[in-house]
Amino acid sequence: MFETLKPLPPDAILGVMTMFRADPHAGKIDLSVGVYQDEQGRTPVLASVKRAEKAILEKQDSKTYVAIAGNAGFNRGVEELLYGKDHPALKAGRISTVQTPGGSGGLSIAGHLVARAKPNVKIYLSDTTWPNHQPLLKVAGMQLDTYPYYDYAKHRVDFEPMLARLTKASAGELVLIHGCCHNPCGADLSHEQWQALTKLCERRGLVPFIDIAYQGLAEGLEEDAYGVRLMAERLPEVVVVTSCSKNLGLYRERVGSASFVSANAEAAKLTAANAANVARGIYSMPPDHGAAIAAHIFSDSALRAQWAQELTDMRTRLNGLRKLLVEKLAARKTPMDFSFVAKERGLFSFLGITKEQVVRLREEFHIYMVESSRVNIAGINHGNVDRVADAIAAVLK
Ligand code: LMR
Repeated sequence: MFETLKPLPPDAILGVMTMFRADPHAGKIDLSVGVYQDEQGRTPVLASVKRAEKAILEKQDSKTYVAIAGNAGFNRGVEELLYGKDHPALKAGRISTVQTPGGSGGLSIAGHLVARAKPNVKIYLSDTTWPNHQPLLKVAGMQLDTYPYYDYAKHRVDFEPMLARLTKASAGELVLIHGCCHNPCGADLSHEQWQALTKLCERRGLVPFIDIAYQGLAEGLEEDAYGVRLMAERLPEVVVVTSCSKNLGLYRERVGSASFVSANAEAAKLTAANAANVARGIYSMPPDHGAAIAAHIFSDSALRAQWAQELTDMRTRLNGLRKLLVEKLAARKTPMDFSFVAKERGLFSFLGITKEQVVRLREEFHIYMVESSRVNIAGINHGNVDRVADAIAAVLK
């Protein structure tokens, strides 16, 4: 039977990572996959994670199963990070959360749960979005549609057309929103835009499905949760998916969650039981190690403070690199104005160059980025920024 399977093109993002790894050039630069890199181009284990890991290994005395919904301490910690300790929906018992294998696992569980509650329901994805949203949510049983999001010419959120499109959506349909650090464009909603979108969801009966895989990497842990908190306060139902890959650097441990705000505490109990049942039917239980690390960090005030500082350092460095790249490109008097890069947030921005220019950067200059010209800002450092700017200026000539 397997001979009937069709050959596939390389993955849009991970395919570039494979090409980068295969390039023997000593000066190659990786601006592709969304993984944080430090000044030396490494992705080290956070010091807070190392300490938590050590403590866990010392005290762990069993490898028996934890639970279908994962580590309860982790789920509580995620809820506090997302909504804040005193959020009215949390106090009212309207929120339930399950630990999942990474953010992708969270999208899958949330998608399946929504499709179980409302078979074939439509979800609107932002145009453009993370390419894995489509297969994950389609397989889960949802119908996919899109709303305009990014204005490529003006390098900003295309908010009026976005609202106009969503105004035509039907009650009960879902809207996938990037909570912060939009992947791939880096252009986030302002507070006013979150407020307008919340009002629209309220008026039209739309359900937000928020993917906040990068909390803490835009403006701060609290600041980045603005939209989640607002919507969870004003709307009866919200779905929120998180990841600890980026903000805790736990990529390969696969730590994430799916969190559901329900209309009332009774509905929240039903949601929790059904989310666990969906997970049971897919992978039975999530892996423990990464979530145990995160739970330990969330509950230990010294470790939490150390982690918050490490996250602040990552964020500050990213925002500094954005400014530096803009300055370097401006100094080369490129025909394009790249000042928008400094205003965007998180790991990614679109350079806005052509596919041919992206290929030239790769083949002539050994600089790797996704074909759409999405760059991972963290791949830039003080040692390579001049080469990056020279190469971009060269392909724009
Ligand atoms: C990315 O967008 O580069 C990351 O989220 C990694 C991935 O799995 O695509």
